[in-house]
Amino acid sequence: MKATAKAPANIAFIKYWGKRDEKLRIPMNNSISMNLSGVSTTTTVQFSQNLKNDLVKIDNQVNKGRERERVVKHLDRVRMMANINLRAKVNSRNNFAQGTGMASSASGFAALTLAATRAVGLTLSERQLSILARLGSGSACRSIPDGFVEWKAGESNETSYAYSLLTPEHWDICDVIAVVGKKAKKVSSTRGHTRAESSPFYQARISGMTAKVREIKKALKHRDFTKFGEIVEAEAINMHAVMMTSKPALYYWLPKSLEIMLAVQEWRNLGLGVYFTLDAGPNVHLLCQKKDSKKLLSRLKRIERLDEVIPNKPSVGAQLL
Ligand code: DP6
Repeated sequence: MKATAKAPANIAFIKYWGKRDEKLRIPMNNSISMNLSGVSTTTTVQFSQNLKNDLVKIDNQVNKGRERERVVKHLDRVRMMANINLRAKVNSRNNFAQGTGMASSASGFAALTLAATRAVGLTLSERQLSILARLGSGSACRSIPDGFVEWKAGESNETSYAYSLLTPEHWDICDVIAVVGKKAKKVSSTRGHTRAESSPFYQARISGMTAKVREIKKALKHRDFTKFGEIVEAEAINMHAVMMTSKPALYYWLPKSLEIMLAVQEWRNLGLGVYFTLDAGPNVHLLCQKKDSKKLLSRLKRIERLDEVIPNKPSVGAQLL
């Protein structure tokens, strides 16, 4: 009763921030993302009669804290579906620093969902996997399908899931992650979501969402990079404006994040087609077309004291190994 799965992290072009239902992780709005080829989690789950408790190892460390609780809760969902009572050993490895806003919960819960369900002998459809992954972490539902993905907010457990809008081959855009900080963030995104509504700008954000989602889907379909980039960048600032005006305020940027954001605007003025976005963390995702990626990487070398630079292309979703 053992299975291993690998799932990519994803970058949200239209963000999920704020929930309609906290427990079920039903979001306020649809979101759009791309799975990332360079950042992933690989997880092995083994259910066994010989275990008294679930054992959760993340990046070679036995976890005893809140994260373990969240994983155990997810295993409980799988046990309930399979109608079994066995405990499990979970071994999960990220190829990037966890808790930095690089979507470790997304890749983590997507990989855990696929590995755990297969380990107990369940073969779920992509939609069922996406729904189950969502219960572990909202953004994880988008790491199940391939390529460019839409998460339909829905209004119930069964109607809130992600599906593939376009294959990874549809458009060879690059997402270069400029890693600014590897320390875990002070306020997790789960806690951050609950503050969204306290921002005076939140209602304005939500009221513009349907049109924004429609526009970006058009830009993606027609590979209109300028249109796409403009929407993505404005959307990231929109979400961070809500975060910074929440009560209490949430600042996920570091000075270096802003330095890179300003550099991106300057590079663009000089003719380089590049746009930025950030999730709930200080790392900046730089989006460009493949033809410009070398130039972008060389520009990034001029930024001092960057921890790491991770180039990504669109990737498939969660895979069984
Ligand atoms: C800013 O999926 O981490 O990255 O459902 O509570 O686990 P939980 O939240 P999570 O939130 C992600 C927020 C975001 C935007 C996004 O990925 O859409």
